[in-house]
Amino acid sequence: MITHNPFTELSAFIPAMVMQIYVIAMAVLVVGGTAIDTLHKKSAKWFFENAKEAKQSATRTVTTGEAVSIAGQTLASEVLTSSEFCNPRRRASHLLIMYGFLTFIVTSAIMVFVYPTGPTPTYLPVLWHLGALMLVIGGYWFWFFIRVDVAAEGTKWYHLVRADLFILSLLSTATFALIWSYLQWTGVPIWETLFFALFVLASTVLFGGVLWSKFAHMFFKPAAAYQKRITKADGSMENLPDFADRSNPADRDRHSMELLKDAPMDMGLGIKRERPSHY
Ligand code: HEM
Repeated sequence: MITHNPFTELSAFIPAMVMQIYVIAMAVLVVGGTAIDTLHKKSAKWFFENAKEAKQSATRTVTTGEAVSIAGQTLASEVLTSSEFCNPRRRASHLLIMYGFLTFIVTSAIMVFVYPTGPTPTYLPVLWHLGALMLVIGGYWFWFFIRVDVAAEGTKWYHLVRADLFILSLLSTATFALIWSYLQWTGVPIWETLFFALFVLASTVLFGGVLWSKFAHMFFKPAAAYQKRITKADGSMENLPDFADRSNPADRDRHSMELLKDAPMDMGLGIKRERPSHY
């Protein structure tokens, strides 16, 4: 099953050009949705004003070389390894979702544009199935066990809010894609058509719903992570006090540290002592 290109069989019913127009339309929806989102929320305006304001409270200037190095660090850390997540399970699930999704959409585009009707190099459909599987594993793990609403707030997994549009449309797209491919292989035409229709519906909601979902975070978060690193490098620190170092007597005398004055130096955060489970 995982070595066959599901779009090849589909091309007997739907011309390759129609598939290609659909993929282009989805890409246009993502670009358009992100642009409208940015204008509507004025997030770009806020971002640049905030960066300008931060610069005014900077204690030193960041050179171009440093800025390039910070961009590289952001790419290697926050973007490629999801380092913003403190919870290792959430980080692992995000990595599975992110790399699964990227593998899935890149191989989909290659198969639809380059090999829609003919023989396909085996590695492409293998990666397509593997990407969808990674997305499904990371996504359901997140949905049922890791999400803060379920893991910490005691909310039931089936309690839905609008913010869930992104993860649910993402999960439905990958789930229906895998079931559709499996049905092609086992050959039950009616079910195959039904799950293909569900796959298209889910992916249209995913790519068409950018304006209402968290989809665009994959473009905004890298910029925000870069800006956060810059504020640390130029000393502006988003107008926050420096990180407290209790081995420094001046820090120990801060008003906010009063309660910790006589505490042992290796005392950890009380909040991390026990996982929340009292509901
Ligand atoms: C293919 C790209 C990506 C996919 C599919 C993806 C997927 C997701 C999903 C499903 C969530 C959980 C959303 C929810 O709470 O419902 C999430 C959250 C998050 N993602 Fe990503 N992500 C991607 C790229 C990125 C990148 C590049 C970054 C950072 C540089 C990032 C940072 C975050 C952060 C910090 C959160 C948690 C905060 C929040 O929920 O807003 N993601 N991502």
